[in-house]
Amino acid sequence: MVIVVANEKGGTGKTTIATNLAIMRAQEGNDVILIDADPQGSASEFVKVREDEGVTPTITCVSITGRAVASEVRKLIPKCTDIVIDAGGRDSAGLRSSLVVADILIVPFLAGQYDIWGVENMNELLEDALAVNPDMKTYSVLNKMDTNPRIGLSTDATDVVTEMKNLQLMNVKIGYRVAYRRSAAEGRAVNELDKKDSKAIAEILALYKEALNGV
Ligand SMILES: Nc1ncnc2c1ncn2[C@@H]1O[C@H](COP(=O)(O)OP(=O)(O)OP(=O)(O)O)[C@@H](O)[C@H]1O
Ligand SMILES: [Mg+2]
Repeated sequence: MVIVVANEKGGTGKTTIATNLAIMRAQEGNDVILIDADPQGSASEFVKVREDEGVTPTITCVSITGRAVASEVRKLIPKCTDIVIDAGGRDSAGLRSSLVVADILIVPFLAGQYDIWGVENMNELLEDALAVNPDMKTYSVLNKMDTNPRIGLSTDATDVVTEMKNLQLMNVKIGYRVAYRRSAAEGRAVNELDKKDSKAIAEILALYKEALNGV
C-alpha cells in the first residue's frame, strides 16, 4: 500500500504525519519504506535520529525527488508491504508524480485562510491526478487545532474544506500538542515517547484507522 502525505503549503504537519504513520505500520509487523520526497530532507533526518537512538522497529528511508518518484516507487513496491511518502511542498514534480502511485492521500492543513488556499490548490491538482489514478482515496485533515474550545477558527476552516470535491475531510482532528514536536525531535512516533500523551496517541491512531478504513 502506498500512502502519500502532501500539501503544497509548508509546515502543515506532512513530515509529522508521514513518520508517525510509517512507524505505526511497522509496529503492526509491516515492512515499511519511508520515502523522503522533500528536498529539505526532514524525514531522512527523523530516521537518522531514530537510528542513532536505536529505536525499533527500524524504518528504511529513501530520498527520491522530482518526476522519478512514481517510477522509483513502482520498483520498490515488490520489495516491501507499505510505502509512505512525505511529499514536500517545494517539489511540485515530486508531488504530482507521487499522486500517480498513491492508494491513499492525506493532506494535512492548518486553520488559517492562507492554509485553506493551499488545500484548494491541492483540490484542483487532484482533478488531473484522479483522472489518472481514480482509485486513490483522498483525505484532508485539520492539524494543530487549537485545543482551547472557545476558539472558533478551526470550525470556519473545516466548513470551507468540507465542500471540496476531490478531498474528503477526515472526522479526526489533530490538536496542537507538545507530543508531536517531541516526536519529531526524538525520531519516535507519539506512542513511543517516554512521556505518553494519551490524547495525541488516540488522535494519531484515529487518523491511522480512518485513512486505512476500506483499503
Ligand atoms: N499537531 C501538532 N502539534 C504541535 N506541533 C506540531 C503538530 N504538527 C506538527 N507540529 C510541529 O510543527 C512543525 C512543522 O511540522 P512538520 O515538519 O511535520 O510540517 P511539514 O508540513 O512537514 O513542514 P515542511 O513543509 O517544512 O516540510 C514541526 O516543528 C512539528 O514538530
Ligand atoms: Mg516536512
